[in-house]
Amino acid sequence: MSKIRVAVFASGDGSNFQALLDNEDLVCEIVLLVCDNPGAKVIERAENAGIPTYVFDPNEYKSKLEYELHLLKALVNAEVRWMFLAGYMRILSPLLVEVGEDRILNIHPSLLPAFPGKDAIKQALEAGVEKTGVTVHYVDEGIDTGRIVAQEEVEILPNDTEKTLKERIQRVEHRLYPQVINDVLIEFSKYDKGI
Ligand code: GAR
Repeated sequence: MSKIRVAVFASGDGSNFQALLDNEDLVCEIVLLVCDNPGAKVIERAENAGIPTYVFDPNEYKSKLEYELHLLKALVNAEVRWMFLAGYMRILSPLLVEVGEDRILNIHPSLLPAFPGKDAIKQALEAGVEKTGVTVHYVDEGIDTGRIVAQEEVEILPNDTEKTLKERIQRVEHRLYPQVINDVLIEFSKYDKGI
């Protein structure tokens, strides 16, 4: 049986994208990298792996709807069925959320609903909490508010800086995201009989 075709969305370094690429057990095929930042390192990672890219600069469009209509065309052309956000620092429009309903996951570096949005690791350090973590959740129209699929705790150590805590959080992310994606897709394929 052919693998489920998916797109990964990323804006920066792309270490989570790399972890998905490197995972030999992944039950899906990454057929497109979507990136909203033409200078991002993740583009190089995709090119090195021979993965097609859809790169755009939101500043060159009049509105979110306009650039997402172009993006939607690219997703349809690539026959993408699921979307995985991995450090994509942009809120999806209601259009894309609706088209991809129950087929978009995101990974976030906190135990949601704590510390949503940007700088979640910094927010946790500043709040002085003893633990934070990683959440994988479905994407809805809110900011990191969709249904939670999996969470894993990461302890905050007394001398942690943003850098040291990020390293430990990302180690968890790189293991957790491929695992959760596989679990969700295997469950999905039991019920998806196509049309
Ligand atoms: C990851 O830690 C991810 O959880 C976070 O951005 C980082 C991207 O790293 N996402 C968010 O904060 C989303 N709100 P990467 O580019 O090395 O994968």
